[in-house]
Amino acid sequence: MSQYLIEGGQKLRGEVTLQGAKNSVLPILAATLLNKGDTLLRRCPRLRDVDASMRILRHLGCTAEWKGEELEIRTGEISRAEITDELMREMRSSAIFLGAMLARCGEAKISYPGGCELGPRPIDLHLAGLRAMGAEIREEGGTLYCRAPRLRGADIVLALPSVGATENLMLAACGAEGVTKISNAAREPEIRDLQEFLVACGARVRGAGTSTVIVEGGEPLHGCTYTVMPDRIVAATYLSAVATAGGEAFLSGAREEHLLAVTAALRAAGCHIRGDERGISIRAEEPLRAVNMIRTAPYPGFPTDAQALVMAVLLRAEGVTVFEENIFENRYRHANEMMRMGAEIRIFGRVAVVTGVSALHGAAVQATDLRGGAALCVAGLAAEGQTQVTDSHHIDRGYEDLTRDLRALGAQIRYCPAD
Ligand code: UD1
Repeated sequence: MSQYLIEGGQKLRGEVTLQGAKNSVLPILAATLLNKGDTLLRRCPRLRDVDASMRILRHLGCTAEWKGEELEIRTGEISRAEITDELMREMRSSAIFLGAMLARCGEAKISYPGGCELGPRPIDLHLAGLRAMGAEIREEGGTLYCRAPRLRGADIVLALPSVGATENLMLAACGAEGVTKISNAAREPEIRDLQEFLVACGARVRGAGTSTVIVEGGEPLHGCTYTVMPDRIVAATYLSAVATAGGEAFLSGAREEHLLAVTAALRAAGCHIRGDERGISIRAEEPLRAVNMIRTAPYPGFPTDAQALVMAVLLRAEGVTVFEENIFENRYRHANEMMRMGAEIRIFGRVAVVTGVSALHGAAVQATDLRGGAALCVAGLAAEGQTQVTDSHHIDRGYEDLTRDLRALGAQIRYCPAD
C-alpha cells in the first residue's frame, strides 16, 4: 500500500510553482470534443484523472498525447458516443462528457457515475437541464441512454449552483440551436476558465463567474492553444502547510482573488499573507489562534475542498473553531484520523468543533479521500515525530507531485510506493 512518511516539526521556507487546476482541466478535456481541430493545453497537470480523460477521448476515437509539457488532443474524428462502465469508474467527473457528446454526436451512452467517498454524487440537475434542451434520457440498469438529434437553447434555472451541472450544460449549449440561459449557475473560477477555453475555440459564451451564464449555440468551433488556470485548492494546501508548520513561502502563479475565503481564515488565524499578480506569499510565525465559524458554501464562499486543509491548521490554534460543512454529506472522515494524532474534534452531523491542542503527535493514519488525505499530510508537518499517511492514492488524484512541492519548501516528506 503506497504511503507518505512525514517527519514533523520542520519550519517551511521556499517557493513553489503551482500546477494547473484539476477541476478546470477535466471539463476542458470534455470540451475538446466540441471542436473538430487540434487543441494544445499548457499547464495541464499530470494526474490520474487527466490520464483517465485521455483514455476516454481515445476510446471515443480521438487522439490525446503528451508533447513534452503540453497535452495535444485531436478531435477531428469521433468513432463512438459511448463510455464504458470501466472507464466511467476510473473518474467520477466523467459525467461531464455527457453534454459534449450529445452536442457533438447527438447521442451518448454512459454508465451512471454513482457515489463516492464524499457521499452520493447525484446528477439529476445535469439531466434535467439536458432534457430542457430537448434530450431524451432513459436510465436502464445503471446505464444512461441519451439522444438528442437536435439540441435547442433553453432557459434553465438550477435548483442549486452545481459546478458540474453548470459545466455540462454550457458544453451541451454550445452545440444547441439558439440561446441557452443558465440561471443560479455556479460561479467558481474553473467555470470562468471553461468559458475562456470555449471562447478561444470560437464559442459565444458569457457571464461565467456570475450567476447567469449565456451561451449562443451553433457556432462551429475550432481548436486552440490554451493555458489552464493554476489550481486554487493546491494553493490552499501549501498555504495551509506553511500556516501549520510555520515559516515563509511564495506560491508562484497562485491568485489570491480565487482564494479570498481561505486567505481570510488564515489571516484571522494569525498568518501574514500578501497576494500580487505574480503569486501569494505567506509568513506564519506567531502562535495560531482559533477563527470564527467556517461554513463551506458555493463560491465565493469557503470552499468545501479546503475545509479539511484549514481544519489541519486549526488543530493547534488557541481556542475553539466551529466548522459547518454544507456541500457534501460525508466530509469529516479525516477528523477521526486527526484525532489519532492527538487532535480534539467533536462531530455533530454537519458541524465539527475543533478545540486547539498545544501539540500533535505523529501517528499511522489513513487517507480516506483526496483533500482529507492531503490535510493529514499538512497536520503531519506540525506533529511531533513521524506521521504515516496510508492509502496515498487518494491524494495522488489531485497533486502532481506532493513530495516534490513540499520538499521544495524544506518539508521532510517521503513517498513510499506499494510493495
Ligand atoms: C465540483 C468539484 C469538487 C468540489 C465541488 C463543490 C470538479 C471535478 N469537482 O464537484 O472538487 O468539491 O464541485 O465545490 O470540479 N448536486 C445535486 N444534483 C446534481 C449535482 C449536484 O444534488 O445534479 C449536489 C451535490 O450532491 C453536492 C452539491 O450539489 O451536494 C454540489 O455539487 P457540485 O457543485 O455539482 O459538485 P461537483 O461538480 O460534483
